[in-house]
Amino acid sequence: MTRRIADLLRHGQPTETVTIKGWVRTKREQKEFSFVEVNDGSSMAGLQTVINQDMPDYAATIKRLSTGASVEVSGTLVESPAKGQRIELKADTVTVYGEADAETYPLQKKRHSFEFLRDIGHLRGRTNTLGAVFRVRNAVATAIHQFFQERGFLWVHTPIISASDCEGAGEMFTVTGFDLSKVPLTDDKQVDFSRDFFGKHAYLTVSGQLEAEIMAMAFSNVYTFGPTFRAENSNTSRHLAEFWMVEPEMAFCDLDGDMELAEAFLKYVFQFVMETCPEDMEFFNQRIDDSILATADNIINNEFARVTYTDAIALLEKSSKPFEYPVEWGLDLQSEHERYLAEDHFKKPTIITDYPAKIKAFYMRMNDDGNTVRAMDIVAPKIGEIIGGSQREERLDVLEQRITAQGLDLADYWWYLDLRRYGTVPHAGFGLGFERLVQFMTGMGNIRDVIPFPRAPQEVEF
Ligand code: 4AD
Ligand code: MG
Repeated sequence: MTRRIADLLRHGQPTETVTIKGWVRTKREQKEFSFVEVNDGSSMAGLQTVINQDMPDYAATIKRLSTGASVEVSGTLVESPAKGQRIELKADTVTVYGEADAETYPLQKKRHSFEFLRDIGHLRGRTNTLGAVFRVRNAVATAIHQFFQERGFLWVHTPIISASDCEGAGEMFTVTGFDLSKVPLTDDKQVDFSRDFFGKHAYLTVSGQLEAEIMAMAFSNVYTFGPTFRAENSNTSRHLAEFWMVEPEMAFCDLDGDMELAEAFLKYVFQFVMETCPEDMEFFNQRIDDSILATADNIINNEFARVTYTDAIALLEKSSKPFEYPVEWGLDLQSEHERYLAEDHFKKPTIITDYPAKIKAFYMRMNDDGNTVRAMDIVAPKIGEIIGGSQREERLDVLEQRITAQGLDLADYWWYLDLRRYGTVPHAGFGLGFERLVQFMTGMGNIRDVIPFPRAPQEVEF
């Protein structure tokens, strides 16, 4: 049976006979034998195999084992005399599945830029950094499910094709039922662009929140975890057109409960990743950002800072830091402001609450001042916003006023209003940008490098 290399590196014992399959990372030829490091993606380190010249077809086989070639090696584990590795594999048989022409194989031994690796996105998972990123991404996803499942939350699958603009920000991609390049527009076959999803208008969802609210009104505590889409043409290192979001929604819960859950959630995920991917996290700390381990420690062991939007504005006004964008009560916080608060002032993740109603979505619960809403954003050093959430408006009359005031049509939200008409309860939830969290944990500078197939302006290769 083929063994995973991560498992062998941890538990493999000398004298065990094993088979591994993977891709050649490096080859060092010596007179009597060659060292070939094989990596199967299960861990940062590959397994060193030692191929002796008395193996049949030695010279021909070694020639074919250039970096990138796929290979199966069977043999016996032995203690390694080399530094930095406990065991190595003394090969008995080597089978080459596919060669990788050394002249044209794009991944060379040197360090490549992340921009270059994005251009060869189909191969970049074979590099140390992207390998570590995608393993950590997998661990974060596992931790997310585990966290909510342990607490009795129901995972609900919300639709990707949706009729409503949850955020009201007009950033939705329209879904068309036709491939216009294949449906020639003739006089007898006209496409009505406003109703081209089988006679209705539909979009790619920007958030599963409204559907999660529906489910929370029957199952109490639920969460979504799936792709969401934003048609914002922002070419930044923190925005994607397609990103994954985690959205818990809790019935019988207020903003305090929401903040408690969010903080416990982030602590849990960091702890889980530190325990399951220690080598990868060590690698990020060494090669990408030397504050990664300290940040993880800070998240796990310290309480997050909390500040109201109004107090945050006062802090920003007092700061001597020159900001590009204006700071004024009533304006939204820009990422430079969020970063100042989390990075320079509080020096840890910071929960900002009670934003002006005017800059937030219609569904957030109005405070008694009639001016601010029960919103909370969690902003992190280096990244800015990673979580956006709120207590929802559960009062039918207030919600109707808010929908109308934002220029939205009450008729479009009849089902959402019904939830307030029949058995309404205080409820709250939040949305976590999955890629922003992976970026925060790994220190990766560009969000396009923490998702296997980034969708962003100029980025649809596959
Ligand atoms: O703050 P947002 O827009 O909130 C919502 O969508 C709410 N419906 C969530 C809820 O209460 N259930 O988005 C939530 C998070 C942001 O904090 C950010 O981390 C991430 O989603 N996000 C993006 N991530 C990558 N690329 C983009 N274009 C993003 N836009 C938002
Ligand atoms: Mg937000």
